[in-house]
Amino acid sequence: MKKTFLNLGKQPIANGFLYKEQIKDEYYFRLKMAFDKETALVTQVNYVDGDLMFNDDYAYRGSMSKTMVKHFKTFSKTISSNKNILEIGSNDGVFLKNFSPKKAIAVEPCGNFAKETQDMGYTTYHSFWDVPLAKKIVKENGKQDIVFAANCICHIPDLDSVFKAVEHVLNEDGTFIFEDPSLAGMINNNSYDQIYDEHPHIFSVIALDNILKRNGLQVVKVENLKVHGGSNRIYAKRIGSKVHDSVYQNKEYEKVLGLNKFKTFKRFAKKVKQSKKDLRRILKKCKKLNKKVISYGATSKSTTIFNYCNIGPDLIDYITDTTPEKQGKLSPGMHIPIISPEEGFNDTVDFAYLGAWNFVDEIIKKEEEYVNRGGKFITHVPLVKIT
Ligand code: TMP
Repeated sequence: MKKTFLNLGKQPIANGFLYKEQIKDEYYFRLKMAFDKETALVTQVNYVDGDLMFNDDYAYRGSMSKTMVKHFKTFSKTISSNKNILEIGSNDGVFLKNFSPKKAIAVEPCGNFAKETQDMGYTTYHSFWDVPLAKKIVKENGKQDIVFAANCICHIPDLDSVFKAVEHVLNEDGTFIFEDPSLAGMINNNSYDQIYDEHPHIFSVIALDNILKRNGLQVVKVENLKVHGGSNRIYAKRIGSKVHDSVYQNKEYEKVLGLNKFKTFKRFAKKVKQSKKDLRRILKKCKKLNKKVISYGATSKSTTIFNYCNIGPDLIDYITDTTPEKQGKLSPGMHIPIISPEEGFNDTVDFAYLGAWNFVDEIIKKEEEYVNRGGKFITHVPLVKIT
């Protein structure tokens, strides 16, 4: 049974960057989070239809961040080149390009990206991940040694169907490896912007193990990662496989944080409300002092922040983003213009709100000149502050 703990109000499609003419047709939904008592899963009350988010206009491109390119390259080296591998949600091939097309299969629902991996030589299934597709893949390619997914499984509402399909496609000793933002990270950072349409769930190890187990799999190892503001890389195998200490340790830690209890999330909701007040106060003060405030990175996360906190072009002049598909468009819901960093990140900027706070190390390194001339960043993670 789901129990609601947080209401983030009316929200648009987080990656639905749009032109002015499209505003009249913009789609909105109510974003509410709940705790499922049976599995301890933190999940949305109502899910948004996948076709509205993952279509041929999907704008998020994994290769846009140096951090993520390096992250996937490093991880790919830990996988033996004689294993065959299937990736669910292969995006622009940022992970798969580290493997030979003879050994790797891509699954991707967004047509623009499915075409890219196809053109790179990878057998690509332009489809959502489900049991019928898993059966088709086994028929055409045989069982797989490794199924990989990065920032994808938490995008899929029906986890039982996802795990059943993985269980079908894996060979007897196969491993399912997937990484997503962690619930512990979100609670510790007060990063409620991890919640948006594309993230119907924020995972704890406890909840994942509960749901994997009812589908023939179990968590056998956990790695804690820094990416995306704190993620977990989960290794799952068939029930009965050897379980690594990291699984027990992570579950213990999650219990200490109270991630198996509803009251923890009620407390979190209170902190979220305070964060909204604090962020609006700082931005309003900057405007009053006639300072120029922009946002750094047109992220899906900042869609949640701007819409929940009612932050529009009155408080943020514009957003800079390196992704060509986003430039020249408006941010979802609040319609703040997006331009390239070359055009917008210049001497006139006084404050930059870190929409892409999860890439803070990469950004500070890149923007040394801005920092040296006195430019400031604003963040809400873990507390609202100017840095
Ligand atoms: P995401 O948080 O939804 O994954 O999106 C990150 C966005 O931030 C992506 O559109 C690229 C953008 N970005 C920049 O504009 N500059 C940067 O230095 C970094 C790291 C990301």
